[in-house]
Amino acid sequence: MPPVHPGALLADAAARWGTPLYVTDLDAAAARLHGYADAFPGALIAYAVKANPDPQLLRRLVAEGAGVEVVTAVELALARRAGCPPERLVMNGVGKRDEEIRLALEAGALVNAESLHELGVLLRTAAGHDAPRIGLRLNPALDAETHPHLATGAGGSKFGIPLAQLPQALRLVREAGIGLESVGAHVGSALESAEPYAALAERLAEAAAIASAAGLPPARIDLGGGLLVADDAALDALADAVRSHLPDAARLILEPGRSVVADAGWLLTRVVRVQPRPAEGLAYLVADAGMTELIRPMLYGATHPVSLVVPGARLEVDGGGEVHLAGPICEAGDILVRCLERSLTAEELAGAGPGAVLAIGRAGAYGAAMASVYNGRLRPAEVVLEAGEARLSRRRETLDDLLSRDA
Ligand code: LLP
Repeated sequence: MPPVHPGALLADAAARWGTPLYVTDLDAAAARLHGYADAFPGALIAYAVKANPDPQLLRRLVAEGAGVEVVTAVELALARRAGCPPERLVMNGVGKRDEEIRLALEAGALVNAESLHELGVLLRTAAGHDAPRIGLRLNPALDAETHPHLATGAGGSKFGIPLAQLPQALRLVREAGIGLESVGAHVGSALESAEPYAALAERLAEAAAIASAAGLPPARIDLGGGLLVADDAALDALADAVRSHLPDAARLILEPGRSVVADAGWLLTRVVRVQPRPAEGLAYLVADAGMTELIRPMLYGATHPVSLVVPGARLEVDGGGEVHLAGPICEAGDILVRCLERSLTAEELAGAGPGAVLAIGRAGAYGAAMASVYNGRLRPAEVVLEAGEARLSRRRETLDDLLSRDA
């Protein structure tokens, strides 16, 4: 179960900054980061900034010792702005442009090649650098149980160098006369079990042994990210799964994104209209947030918990039917939460009419990060909570912001 949200702070934030609004609890995110650091003493925990690039969140995590995993030059710039030192920067990405590779090497980041072609570019670019940091992101060919869009470690996915091509990759690195800092892989995302990490650790240990035998002993092994939740039990299970194959935790890199921030964040949304469908035995509450603010339900069929933060008008729908929380976007699939009657008590649901503020949970990861301006939506403000206080981290987008790009 996700942790209980700080209801009064959320209600105040909605009143002060309006809705839709993203709220991220920095203390909760920092606690998850420390959970990782405790489970893997000495390891580099490189937070996958794609999950939530809020600037204050990033600054806080970096200040608490996190590294940052980036996949573009823009994410690299965000990480540097947040004060991440070079030795804690890790770059992945299946389609890094040559220019991005150059920038990352210049920044002193560990740059992981995801294909032999990219490795060629990486090695040529690295030739001009003093101490380039190079790694291989391998495709572990593991079918972890998750949504097909999130099965990044599957053999047929576009990510990583196939294990069968490892000898060829090692030959290229050796010929370039450059050391190999890391071998790694990302087994998939939203994983409910630590089980796939045992197989991952085994394959990476094997890959490291092959590299060592080829004269390129990797200093580090990168396990990627992927856990859905990183509570103490999940982290114990993860550490257990990895330990027998990779006993030296200080040698590891982990790249968690979602499990650091998902449960530390909420999307606050206000109910705007009620759309009864008595003939179908259902009703929609239409909110001021939709797929443009949280696309995960539509894209992955993801379910997010919901709670009532501020009651609104009494809901006048004939009893018994299903009540779905829909967004305002012109797409029939724009449904945020199905069957509210499963998450809210009858009394809460009755108070969820127009004006009510709802908090959609587990929205700290891949919520704001995946927001769009489709339908002329302006991206919401972002607020952070720290030591019991709320403050603005990113203001709401304006029409002028949108127009500022017009020629
Ligand atoms: N490292 C690499 C190389 C990755 O590709 C990813 C995520 C991560 C780390 C972080 O994984 P996490 O710990 O967050 O699972 N938009 C999707 C998630 C896509 C994740 C892709 N790669 C969603 O909303 O579920």
